[in-house]
Amino acid sequence: MDIQELIQFSADQLKNPKNHPIDALNKICEHLRENIEHYDWVGFYFHHPEKPKLILKAFAGEPTDHIEIPFGKGICGQVAETDTNFRVDDVNDQDNYIACSIYTKSELVVPLFVDGKNIGQIDIDSHQKNAFSAEDEDLLKKINQLVAEHINLNAINA
Ligand code: SME
Repeated sequence: MDIQELIQFSADQLKNPKNHPIDALNKICEHLRENIEHYDWVGFYFHHPEKPKLILKAFAGEPTDHIEIPFGKGICGQVAETDTNFRVDDVNDQDNYIACSIYTKSELVVPLFVDGKNIGQIDIDSHQKNAFSAEDEDLLKKINQLVAEHINLNAINA
């Protein structure tokens, strides 16, 4: 994967005043999914402004029923509470897991911090087992840092 190109594309979307913040996130999801073979579903969940739950705000891939996820539930809900990356090599090994697609075999969730506070996450699903490496974690951390720098949370939560 060309990390530099993926980062540049993401920065361009976030900085483009013609993009609504949610459109920018959708374009980033689509670009990651199209350009990285082992990314089959890519989404951004954000913490609800008042309630302990995640809300899906942008994604690329098959639509999911899991638009809202309570903190603590599934891989995503656990990351909302632990503030740390969660890499799952085989989703069948996880008891606290929410299946979005029968095809998903592995998953990576990386939290998104604004001013040190966990406010959301990027979630990647893959149809391959053991799909993710430290390189993916590094890429997603960098994309989340860009999102944190440019995002207008009021527009996201409106
Ligand atoms: N598998 C996630 C739910 C989100 S879907 O992957 C889109 C989880 O266990 O939290």
